[in-house]
Amino acid sequence: MGVDIDEEGGKSITEKVQAFGGSMTFVKADVSNENEISTFFDIAQEMGGVDVLFNNAGVEVAKSLLDTSEEDWNKNIDVNLKSVFFTCKYAIQQMKEKGKGVIINNSSVAGLVGSFSPAYSAAKGGIIALTKALATDFGQYNIRVNCICPGAIETPMLERVIKFQGEPSEVRERRLKNYPLARFGYPDEVAQTALFLASDDSSFGNGATIPVDGGFTAK
Ligand SMILES: NC(=O)c1ccc[n+]([C@@H]2O[C@H](COP(=O)([O-])OP(=O)(O)OC[C@H]3O[C@@H](n4cnc5c(N)ncnc54)[C@H](O)[C@@H]3O)[C@@H](O)[C@H]2O)c1
Repeated sequence: MGVDIDEEGGKSITEKVQAFGGSMTFVKADVSNENEISTFFDIAQEMGGVDVLFNNAGVEVAKSLLDTSEEDWNKNIDVNLKSVFFTCKYAIQQMKEKGKGVIINNSSVAGLVGSFSPAYSAAKGGIIALTKALATDFGQYNIRVNCICPGAIETPMLERVIKFQGEPSEVRERRLKNYPLARFGYPDEVAQTALFLASDDSSFGNGATIPVDGGFTAK
């Protein structure tokens, strides 16, 4: 099952999955709203319950402390952090019944090192702490909880942030100096890490924070 607030995007991904011979149920929902979360977990329960949860939805707040309004802060915390807390709550209820489960939370390098957006950093750092707390609490139920910290990844979000930061080619050139691989990452490179964490190949991995950042945080 795939969940997103963007119905068109969800339909398009469903068609792509089908074109590759797979199947996917798309549910339009706002992951910052506990009622909506509860509804799509009811649907998941009817489909046999959740085995793997990948928390990927997020929004950027590319603003400095002094420019961040209360509205910006609330949206950022609701979509980036509260969503992860409550989806984990509902997923873990189903996983406990099954006696196993895997959760992968998508944080960011902004949760590990200082960034241009303290609000975004606070939410993404919160995901890392939440991941460790849940890994500690629910490992006894055979539920593993890990998180990924991507560096800059070539997605619409990165394009918006770069535009916000100035002339795009100059911003790219400046930011790439912090990337030892001299490029930004691709969505597939994050997805492959999520697949590894979802699989038994990572069966002893629990509470881990894994940078996927081309060496950005190693510098
Ligand atoms: N792109 C990067 O450079 C980068 C770096 C580090 C971390 N991340 C994280 O990776 C994740 C994916 O980001 P992306 O770059 O693909 O961003 P994106 O903006 O391209 O995609 C984000 C997706 O989240 C969905 N979404 C937003 N608000 C939602 C809500 N309230 N309910 C349900 N769905 C909602 C959007 O519709 C969209 O499909 C995010 O958590 C982001 O913070 C991205």
